[in-house]
Amino acid sequence: MNHTSQGFPTIRPRRLRQTPTLRRLVRETNLSPADFIYPMFILHGRQVQNEVTSMPGVYQLSVDMLAREAEELRELGVPAVMLFGLPAEKDPIGKENFADDGIVQQAVRALRAADPELVIMTDVCMCEYTDHGHCGVIENGQILNDPSIEILGKVAVSHARAGADVVAPSAMMDGQVAAIRQALDGAGFGNTPIMGYSAKYASGFYGPFRDAADSPPQFGDRSSYQMDPANRREAMREIELDLQEGADIMMVKPALPYLDIIREARDRFPDVPLAAYNVSGEYSMIKAAAKLGWLDEKRTALESLTAIKRAGAHLILTYWAKAAARWLAE
Ligand code: PBG
Repeated sequence: MNHTSQGFPTIRPRRLRQTPTLRRLVRETNLSPADFIYPMFILHGRQVQNEVTSMPGVYQLSVDMLAREAEELRELGVPAVMLFGLPAEKDPIGKENFADDGIVQQAVRALRAADPELVIMTDVCMCEYTDHGHCGVIENGQILNDPSIEILGKVAVSHARAGADVVAPSAMMDGQVAAIRQALDGAGFGNTPIMGYSAKYASGFYGPFRDAADSPPQFGDRSSYQMDPANRREAMREIELDLQEGADIMMVKPALPYLDIIREARDRFPDVPLAAYNVSGEYSMIKAAAKLGWLDEKRTALESLTAIKRAGAHLILTYWAKAAARWLAE
């Protein structure tokens, strides 16, 4: 065999890296604003725009501020939002969560009026609404499963009734997708898709979100319902169950520390849309390091988002949605 055809110097991978246009031509993963879902935190009041201390650039907004946001997202080409609500009052079961005039329900209507085409997704959980801060109802210090999924069904119907396009259960209660599917179908919302937070880990990276959504658990932690970060096979089982229960989109969360899970979900369930949540801590780490001058925010944020897409997620929930759309247009 001719030795010159064996690798170097015949083969030189650097040939294709010589110019920006050549590199662009052979690039395997291209980010687009169309990949992004923008998470938003909505609260009561008027003209409120509170920056979240641990998440610079992320704001808690009142409903009257949303029309402008919808317009901005449209201009940037970001197609979807994920809504989280901060209620006026918290109680043991979180009543405002399924109230017609609840904060998320108001936000859905305002966004819908501002842009009929925006894909409005709502987070269906209980922790922002309950006085104990857990994602289910409590009895004797235990987080109960079956009564919780009944409430989650009511919440999903209430969001759909307000006009939500997609509901996204994140409580990690067993059977939550089935309960929500049944509740939606029973209420005439058979066409409302469910995006399951299927493989959601009990993660330290949610820290800053709990400031933004005012949702830290008042006792204990979420390890009796969210997944153990050490488990990979169990994630596949959780996703499979969500799909059996009727989930239309699967999600892995957080994203960057779990790229192996994203890749495996993509390979194992090739025909199902896969979302990944680039969570608050992933955002705040880079923001903090950039503030200290230790990292370049634009470069590391786009690198993170590219890595998540390369791993196999084509829907990415990210607090950088607007900034990244601007960077990509430069
Ligand atoms: C609600 C919920 C959480 C996140 C999304 N939905 C917090 C939690 O489970 O404690 C985290 C999102 C983020 O950190 O950006 N259950």
